[in-house]
Amino acid sequence: MVFAKIAETEKELRDAFFVREEVFVKEQGVPLPLEKDEYDKEATHFVAYNGEEPIAAGRVRIVDGNIAKVDRVCVLPDFRRKQIGVLMMTHLEKYAKSHQLAKVKLNAQTHAIPFYEKQNYIITSPEFLDSGIPYRAMEKEF
Ligand SMILES: CC(C)(COP(=O)(O)OP(=O)(O)OC[C@H]1O[C@@H](n2cnc3c(N)ncnc32)[C@H](O)[C@@H]1OP(=O)(O)O)[C@@H](O)C(=O)NCCC(=O)NCCS
Repeated sequence: MVFAKIAETEKELRDAFFVREEVFVKEQGVPLPLEKDEYDKEATHFVAYNGEEPIAAGRVRIVDGNIAKVDRVCVLPDFRRKQIGVLMMTHLEKYAKSHQLAKVKLNAQTHAIPFYEKQNYIITSPEFLDSGIPYRAMEKEF
C-alpha cells in the first residue's frame, strides 16, 4: 500500500532525506551540502511509503506571509509514472490550503514542467540555472 504523510518522527525525517539523497545527490549529482540546506530546519517535510519502504519526499515552507514554497519533490526511479508525484503534491497543497495560504510557488526542473502543468501550475520565469540544473519558476493560485 502506498501512502504519504508529514514526516513527524526522526525515522520519518531520515526516510525523507534518504529519498532526496538517492534522487538529487546520487541520481542528479547535486552536492550533498547544497541538497540539504538551511531551509530544512523550518520546512514541513513529507514522505511517502510503499509499505515500509520510503519512496518519495517533498517539503513545504511558508514564505512572504501567505505563500507556500514547495521544494525537493522526488520519487524513486522504480516508482515513477505511477501517480506518486501527484500524491505528494496533493499532500503538500492540502497543507498549504489548511494554513490559508493563497498560492503555491516552486522552481521546476525543466524536464518536470509537464508534470506540474498537468496539475495546473503556470510558468512565471525564464529558465535559470541552479547547481548546473535548468529551472523555471512556476506557481498555482487556489
Ligand atoms: C518529477 C517527478 C517528481 C514526477 O513524479 P512521478 O511520480 O513520476 O509523476 P506522476 O506519475 O505523479 O505523474 C503525473 C503526470 O505527470 C506526467 N509526468 C510525470 N513526469 C513527467 C515528465 N518528466 N515529463 C512529462 N510528463 C511527466 C505523468 O505522465 C502523469 O501524467 P498523467 O496524469 O496524464 O498520466 C519524478 O519524475 C522525479 O522524482 N524526478 C526526479 C526528481 C525531480 O526532478 N523532481 C522535480 C524537481 S522540480
